[in-house]
Amino acid sequence: MVFPAANGYIIRFQGVAVLTSGGDAPGMNAAVRAVVRTAIFKGMDVYGVQRGYNGLITGEVVKMDLRSVSDIIHRGGTVLYTARSPKFRTPEGVKQAADYCRELGIKGVVVIGGDGSYRGARDLTHAGIPCVGLPGTIDNDISSTDHTIGFDTAMNTAMHMVDNIRDTSQSHDRCSVVEVMGRNAGYLALHTGVACGATAILVPEVPFDLEKDVIPKITRTQATGKKNFIIVVAEGVGGTENIARHIQELTGIDTRATILGHVQRGGSPTVRDRVIATQMGYHAVELLEQGIGNRVVGIKEDKVVDFDIDEALEMTKPFEEELFKIADVVSI
Ligand code: F6P
Repeated sequence: MVFPAANGYIIRFQGVAVLTSGGDAPGMNAAVRAVVRTAIFKGMDVYGVQRGYNGLITGEVVKMDLRSVSDIIHRGGTVLYTARSPKFRTPEGVKQAADYCRELGIKGVVVIGGDGSYRGARDLTHAGIPCVGLPGTIDNDISSTDHTIGFDTAMNTAMHMVDNIRDTSQSHDRCSVVEVMGRNAGYLALHTGVACGATAILVPEVPFDLEKDVIPKITRTQATGKKNFIIVVAEGVGGTENIARHIQELTGIDTRATILGHVQRGGSPTVRDRVIATQMGYHAVELLEQGIGNRVVGIKEDKVVDFDIDEALEMTKPFEEELFKIADVVSI
């Protein structure tokens, strides 16, 4: 969607805002920094909106300068804070936010978050404030990008945690069932499981039968001399404690369940997350500068791309069947 001025020329954006919305993800700060610095480089005023879309309703908006984003590229979380805003989901909330943007001379907003945040960006665009979305979530469940900001860091954090669990699991000849985050998606579980040499990876995308698939896998590998086992379970599968209890009952192996939880959301972002966040933040401002809104930015085959928000929300992301198959083969 391009927003031409009445005189037919593309609007030159004077003021842009940036906000983070939904669950935080490592690398969001790097994206905020890139947006602020790029906009200032282009001569724009930049505003940081605090606590997601809520900030546009409550007026928690601060003017940003070059130094507002110093020393944040390496920090997890989001310096702008984040929130899920029920009020913004109402037409009145959207109108209030759009009116507030107009009051401040904000002509475009960069929204960093998951697909719920994209819906908000679409609504705000339709209310007259062009928005560009950046994918920020550890779940990697956004179809318009190969990698979301935060996914790489979360995978590495989960991998280190599972490595630690393996140490103790190995010492006690135990089976450890480890639940990783991901909401309804199994990307984080799959990659963590592969990186940690899990005996089985349970994800919502691939149906399984514990007694027919997982137990025989454990007993088969046990027969080859293996004495400790890691089973990675995606949050979307659920029932991790029950899975551990069943494994213990059916195999006789001492089994423990660990739910990694929010430890996976924090921490200093990896190189990859910092770099893609920077590339995407820069690209978002370039789009707004050209008067282009209602877009989302992504990385496809290592290139920065952008799509219409509505199209992006309709896209589906194929599960990595090949990687799942490989994981099964190499864990015999
Ligand atoms: O979307 C990121 C995520 O961490 C999911 O993996 C998880 O299901 C959810 O957020 C947890 O949300 P909250 O922090 O609100 O408990």
